[in-house]
Amino acid sequence: MQYRHMGKWGVRLSAIGVGSYLTIGFKLDEETSRATVRAAYDAGVNFFDTANAYNKGGAERMLGKILRDFPRSSFFLITKVFAEMGPGPNDRGLSAKHVFEQCHASLQRLGIDYIDLYMCHRPDPDTPLEETIRVMEDLARQGKILYWGVSEWSAAQMAEANCLARQIGARPIGVNQPRYNLLYRQPEEKVFPLTTTEGIGNVAFSPLAHGMLTGKYQPSKPAPPGTRAADDETNMVIKNLYWKEESRRKSQELVRIAREMGISPATLALAWCLRRTEVTSAIIGATKVSQIQENLKAVDVQIPADVLLKLDSVFPPPTASPAV
Ligand SMILES: NC(=O)c1ccc[n+]([C@@H]2O[C@H](COP(=O)([O-])OP(=O)(O)OC[C@H]3O[C@@H](n4cnc5c(N)ncnc54)[C@H](OP(=O)(O)O)[C@@H]3O)[C@@H](O)[C@H]2O)c1
Repeated sequence: MQYRHMGKWGVRLSAIGVGSYLTIGFKLDEETSRATVRAAYDAGVNFFDTANAYNKGGAERMLGKILRDFPRSSFFLITKVFAEMGPGPNDRGLSAKHVFEQCHASLQRLGIDYIDLYMCHRPDPDTPLEETIRVMEDLARQGKILYWGVSEWSAAQMAEANCLARQIGARPIGVNQPRYNLLYRQPEEKVFPLTTTEGIGNVAFSPLAHGMLTGKYQPSKPAPPGTRAADDETNMVIKNLYWKEESRRKSQELVRIAREMGISPATLALAWCLRRTEVTSAIIGATKVSQIQENLKAVDVQIPADVLLKLDSVFPPPTASPAV
């Protein structure tokens, strides 16, 4: 396994992390959830990702139960706050009240006494930034969290937050969690330059575009049974973001390029994310131990310059194409 510093910070995360959206504590039963986490952990993965909203706390409960088998110091855990957790007016967002209450609820569901990094799942335009930064700082000083971070915030929002944090003597952002994959390269434009300047790490989510970059979805064909795209309980995001004829055609180009290198498309797609120094880790989802094993191979793959150019011609950088 390769470990990378989380931006400028001292902590080091495995270059592949394992997430729990739609998988652990939802589609996967306890035995399979445990098997995927253990396979990753045994191969050196020390970074796991979840959120309060994943299956309304179900993912945190299952992941926490599984991670209890391992020494607390041996893994780094992210969980998140923002999404709606109940019917009340204060059951969502980034107010001090909701962040404070959900932090304690997450600790309880996870069965741990501190969160390594507590993440704002989305920006909250209805809460002053200062209120959120102060509650994160308070939670850190109370020993409930070590770092805080953001997901899907713009470069301008991160810059403003860090400027304000410095003004009020609070700790700045530790990590950003952007969507980043061959079909969605937008972070390269503004987010990666800003995070480099600020020393913020990036832990990329959906690096396989929900499975679109594994080669299993063919143009003009229905999704194979047993896949995320074939299941109406899990396919809303892949159908919404990636289920285009053009994306499926491009994914087959990726299959051809990967075959020339003698590796799988999933391995190549992940190695491509990891080629960027701004990326601390790529967070994968997995429904099988075999997927974990295949995906972890990416850590040892260096992509030659001519292959990077081929990939650029199929999956152009953001300045050359609109978002897919
Ligand atoms: N911050 C955010 O807003 C946000 C948003 C989304 C996700 N996340 C985090 O990022 C994690 C990963 O996101 P994601 O699930 O979208 O990641 P992903 O790695 O792009 O997609 C994961 C899915 O692709 C399929 N897959 C993975 N490896 C494969 C392989 N080798 N061969 C064939 N199929 C394979 C599996 O689905 P099937 O086997 O079911 O087809 C798997 O569940 C989440 O679990 C979550 O922790 C965060």
